[in-house]
Amino acid sequence: MKKILIPLILLITLLTACRPVNTNVESVVDVPVDIPLDVPDETPVEVVDEIDLDYLNPELSPAERADILLAQMTLAEKIGQMTLIEKGSISSDSVYRFFIGGVLSGGGGTPTPNTTEAWAEMVDDYQEAALDTRLGIPVIYGVDAIHGHGNLRGAVIFPHNIGLGAARDPDLVYRIAQVTAKEMAATNIYWNYAPIAAVGQDIRWGRTYEVYSENTDLVTELSLAFLQGLQGESLLDQFSVLATPKHYVGDGGTVWGTSLHPYWQIDRGDLQVDEATLREVHLPPYQAAIEAGAQSIMVSFSSWNGTKMHAEKYLLTDVLKGELGFEGFLVSDWAGIDEIHPDYYTSVVTAINAGIDMNMVPYNYQRFITVMTQGVENGDIPQERIDDAVRRILTVKFMMGLFEGPFSDPALFDLVGRYEHRALAREAVAKTLVLLENEGQVLPLSKESGLIFLAGEGANDIGMQCGGWTIEWQGAKGSITPGTTLKEAFEEAFQGTVQYNRFGRYDNILDESGNPAVADVGIVVIAEDPYAEGEGDSNDLTLSEIELELIERVGERSEKVVVLIMSGRPLVITEALDMADAWVAIWLPGTEGQGVADVIFGDAPFVGKTPFTWPASMDQLPLGSYESEPLYPYGYGLEQ
Ligand code: GLC
Repeated sequence: MKKILIPLILLITLLTACRPVNTNVESVVDVPVDIPLDVPDETPVEVVDEIDLDYLNPELSPAERADILLAQMTLAEKIGQMTLIEKGSISSDSVYRFFIGGVLSGGGGTPTPNTTEAWAEMVDDYQEAALDTRLGIPVIYGVDAIHGHGNLRGAVIFPHNIGLGAARDPDLVYRIAQVTAKEMAATNIYWNYAPIAAVGQDIRWGRTYEVYSENTDLVTELSLAFLQGLQGESLLDQFSVLATPKHYVGDGGTVWGTSLHPYWQIDRGDLQVDEATLREVHLPPYQAAIEAGAQSIMVSFSSWNGTKMHAEKYLLTDVLKGELGFEGFLVSDWAGIDEIHPDYYTSVVTAINAGIDMNMVPYNYQRFITVMTQGVENGDIPQERIDDAVRRILTVKFMMGLFEGPFSDPALFDLVGRYEHRALAREAVAKTLVLLENEGQVLPLSKESGLIFLAGEGANDIGMQCGGWTIEWQGAKGSITPGTTLKEAFEEAFQGTVQYNRFGRYDNILDESGNPAVADVGIVVIAEDPYAEGEGDSNDLTLSEIELELIERVGERSEKVVVLIMSGRPLVITEALDMADAWVAIWLPGTEGQGVADVIFGDAPFVGKTPFTWPASMDQLPLGSYESEPLYPYGYGLEQ
């Protein structure tokens, strides 16, 4: 038994203005207050009793260990466990000084260099600091590995979820999750902010591509498969990773124009439905996840009939933790608590009392810790609520074996980007393709001989092929990570000649007679630029004049025309349909472009079905708000 002196921490608060938001939450204090903080002129020292180290005994159950540990924690240590900070905003020294429980990499939160080794070293550094604290509680480190370990250069990037929704193959999703977990484990990261369990109701939403479908049953089936693939049989297994179904609840059903963001329109908006509809459409994926052992769930930025989900005690505590029996911990979204009320103290007190257990702050941890301490000392946050939150967090950390295996294993480094992982991604890509039109059975193409004209920026850009949440939060164009572009895949598969020109100009390509050559087939890739979250909210999903001109220009020099739509959602193509013989939705394939070539050249069949209703025009959105027929119904897809 060791007797240890611990210094009380000086809490220095940097006061920052809170984001003005609408709210129907009553202020906890009479008037919004800044949070002054007396800074003691010396660091008082608190002597604590001997430590009961039984919580380190792996023979005891996670719940028993959590109770033993919780019983001897100071308030500062408890509040530290409820604090989740992005890695750019905290040093390992501060993780030690403030007993921080969680660290994350947000989209683009990469170490420099962006290598497996550097990731592992970064996480190990935080762990070392956490284990140096009095009670040695390891941090839990989280990332958004929503389509592979997306922030890590060299990781295999799988098709975004909309494509997997088209594939409708839960076993495939399970295997993708397993590989994702392995590539995460190589970097010593065991907490994934995935799967998204949203049921998308309006494809104008910038997060549509992160969503499996508009259909509740399909979302439930596939998000469950991903969770099970990540978590395996036991969270103690070497390649098991904690899943985080998100964003609870109803983020996919918000109304256009209700976003509280300064210029986004539907992301983080208001779900305006009655409870019966919420339960029927949006809740089932969470019920299934809890039954399957979900131990962390992320709360949505969105609102329900005007109340921010982060403040919605009925749904967070009464329904999720009470009625559905969720025993894990609820984590906020990125500064999601701040949006509850103009007064930060009120926001924090409201959110924690509503049922949030860990706050993704993610920056100003001193302000959060100060306010939490004051909230408990003022009696506005009951000690029981703190203990419940910390007990949930600690129990999950014990379930994950974090205390027994906190550091990286270099023997795992070569798991990242390995051949068999890329082969799985290639299989997945092939299963995502949806054949929309195929006039004269122009597809599949013959491999043997001939001339193909290939056009479109997206045909030769791995960043566009991957989409958002890849290396950068918003994704990025260019060679952002190793992979195979469509151009490379077609050149590899086709035994004739592929002439690529981004703008569809082939003036210098002549036939034997010296005349402008005419291609057997012109393939045009129509692609969305990468985006994420509300940056992708759009009320215009029609093809641009430039895109229409590109298709026309290639058609002038081709016998047949095939259009490949590389997008995060259905686009309005009705007016352009007659400009091409075949149309294929390839969604956002990720790094393994060969999967597209496999199907286009007939080495794999067309099996994909539209996971969202495909509108004929913009006035058919949102889903179900139109009388006229959509261009393609949910579940549509030709086999040849
Ligand atoms: C984001 C997203 C959420 C993600 C989190 C951490 O704002 O809403 O899906 O898990 O921040 O990156």
